[in-house]
Amino acid sequence: MAIIEEVKNPVLEVHSLTVVYNKQPAIWNVDFTLPKGQIIGIMGPNGSGKSTLLKAIMGVVDANIGYVKVFDQEIEEVRRKVSYVPQRQSVDWDFPAQVKDVVAMGRFATRGILSRLNAEDKEIVQESLKKVGMEAFANRQIAQLSGGQQQRVFIARALAQRAELYLMDEPFAGVDASTEESIIELLNEMRNHGKTLIVVHHDLYTASDYFDWVVLLNTRLVASGPVAKVFTPEILAEAYGSRLTTLSKVADLLAERRFPMRHK
Ligand SMILES: Nc1ncnc2c1ncn2[C@@H]1O[C@H](COP(=O)(O)OP(=O)(O)OP(=O)(O)O)[C@@H](O)[C@H]1O
Ligand SMILES: [Mg+2]
Repeated sequence: MAIIEEVKNPVLEVHSLTVVYNKQPAIWNVDFTLPKGQIIGIMGPNGSGKSTLLKAIMGVVDANIGYVKVFDQEIEEVRRKVSYVPQRQSVDWDFPAQVKDVVAMGRFATRGILSRLNAEDKEIVQESLKKVGMEAFANRQIAQLSGGQQQRVFIARALAQRAELYLMDEPFAGVDASTEESIIELLNEMRNHGKTLIVVHHDLYTASDYFDWVVLLNTRLVASGPVAKVFTPEILAEAYGSRLTTLSKVADLLAERRFPMRHK
């Protein structure tokens, strides 16, 4: 019944991954593989282990059991090709830095921390800010931006890294509708250039538009596969609990869009 689709030549492999905090598992025995060149949604209720999964992939938290391979290698070997945007609440926004310096950190991730930025790097920083509509704020202190503006700067930093794989933890949290639209356009453009984007997201309504592939978590892996296969009422209920009233609305929405749904 569970849908866990295996991928050939995966961009990411997660094997038996278990992360335990204070004797409580945050993710438990999770196994999946992800395809290259797609936009992949990581979804599941609050506390279901989405952020922990991204941190374990990045090596920010250690796995208690299991391992992860990125581009068929250890994360340490390929870190420059992988860009990570943490969940906004988890970042201390009071540090003194100008917006352009925060974005430039994306270039140092590629060039090494002791290098100097050349003209090309500076151009990439400008271009990245422009892509998220923040070029007018280049000299502003990061602490003096609104939440949604800070989020856009962190996305610009990820863009400046020119990575191959992007892990974004709730990039749409706290951004307005038109910004969300422009960010998803940007992600589509990146995908069309062969990049892989892994995006933690909460909104079930937009997920089927945004994502090619969805990983559903609820401490355990509930499903991993093409969005049309994963978004069935039964699987959503397994991830979110069947009493959630939005689930029936989502099922209606999916029916309207004539997604394939399984009936008993
Ligand atoms: N540093 C930590 N120490 C102890 N427990 C933690 C820590 N970080 C997360 N947890 C716990 O692990 C579980 C998973 O947390 P995680 O942040 O991965 O969830 P999430 O799916 O990202 O949730 P949200 O949708 O709220 O962002 C939760 O029960 C959380 O309380
Ligand atoms: Mg989270």
